[in-house]
Amino acid sequence: MKKLDILLVGGGGREHAIAWKLAQSPRCGRIRCAPGNAGIAAIAECVPIPAKDVAAMVAFARETTPDLVFVAPDDPLALGMVDAMEAAGFRAFGPRAAAAEVEASKVFSKGLMRRHGIPTAAYETFDDLDAALAYLAAHPAPIVVKADGLALGKGVVVAKTDAEAADAVRSMMADKAFGAAGARVVIEEFLEGPELTVLAFTDGATVVPMASSRDHKRAFDGDRGPNTGGMGAVSPGADLSPALERAMRETILQPTVDALRAEGRLFQGVLYFGLMLTRDGPKVIEYNARFGDPEAQAVLPRLETDLLDIVEAVIDRRLAEVLIRWSPRPTCCVVLASGGYPGKYGTGLPIEGLDAAAALPDTLVFHAGTRFRGDPAERRYETAGGRVLGVCATAGDLESAIDRAYDGASRIAFPGMHYRKDIGRTGAPPAAPRP
Ligand code: AMP
Ligand code: GLY
Repeated sequence: MKKLDILLVGGGGREHAIAWKLAQSPRCGRIRCAPGNAGIAAIAECVPIPAKDVAAMVAFARETTPDLVFVAPDDPLALGMVDAMEAAGFRAFGPRAAAAEVEASKVFSKGLMRRHGIPTAAYETFDDLDAALAYLAAHPAPIVVKADGLALGKGVVVAKTDAEAADAVRSMMADKAFGAAGARVVIEEFLEGPELTVLAFTDGATVVPMASSRDHKRAFDGDRGPNTGGMGAVSPGADLSPALERAMRETILQPTVDALRAEGRLFQGVLYFGLMLTRDGPKVIEYNARFGDPEAQAVLPRLETDLLDIVEAVIDRRLAEVLIRWSPRPTCCVVLASGGYPGKYGTGLPIEGLDAAAALPDTLVFHAGTRFRGDPAERRYETAGGRVLGVCATAGDLESAIDRAYDGASRIAFPGMHYRKDIGRTGAPPAAPRP
């Protein structure tokens, strides 16, 4: 059997989970990861190339000739790394830039949904500050203001008051809080209901939803504090009735994949559906063009099918031939963050207790912002980012998975560490939301 050499692009908790899953494949050869992190280094050879550096990544691929390049993060996808790898003759997993625009531009994704009748919040787009403020004057809070471009999941303000909405528009459009990403804004209707993430594999025609998940985006317990990249996730994210599952597939998943194809933006990779289960049925809050982080850490441990088989079927557009199976056992992932995150935080702080946590039953510790402290052979670690670790546990029921993940989290310590204590316990959808 020919083993495949893989170049994995990225270096967070999501990429650790992807590398861990790929490595389980009997066909997986050597994995190189750029830039990787100290946890990924146990599975893959880490190379210090920034994930966004398309030219350097292609040059490295030319040097090492991987059989497959897996582009996991949003930035390189938006920058056309898959296009560039393909142009250089490599097989690459992930959408090309034109398809990745569903994430990179909210103006594009909202337009796509409007053109194809995919349920989403009503909205208007603005590139003029006064016009945006005039619209707000006519549409009272609660209302949602979103920067058009990529802003690390932080370019969204759910405004409870008119003043908050106007401030958000001013800081994005006049003060350029998110740089060019905020030159255009989308102002949209406030939706209510439990949130759910549905990741799906798609080859551009067939779409196969993964086990559902639910992210916890706010920094603090009780869904308070600023939005973050995600402080924890559980899978499943809701107890979905067959009717609701069908509604999602027929009104959102398949129509989105078909719409992208019809507009000449064939999407091959993982499509992320951020959904709100409203009283009027599921609606799209956002698309991402990749696995979520930390959703991947909660979902991939449940995947029973060889991820490499799925990846190749997506690239070769024969996803319909693959049967994808999931473990029924729920998973919880708790993110351990640096003091100050999602604002300013320090790095280089020693991390204790990793081995004790990883030794617990059915527990995985995925590294996000970590690096070696001193000689890598000594296996000592320190913080190197805002989200530092994801402690994931699986059990026979969700409550036990949550308890187990928190047991793991309690074994780990670094100065300033903070984490939410209510992952999986807040924002839970009612058992059977109305389809
Ligand atoms: P996004 O980056 O678009 O996923 O938005 C971040 C978070 O803001 C979401 O996870 C929701 O909690 C919230 N949000 C976004 N859009 C809306 C909306 N139209 N109504 C209510 N909440 C929203
Ligand atoms: N956890 C949300 C995201 O990856 O966008």
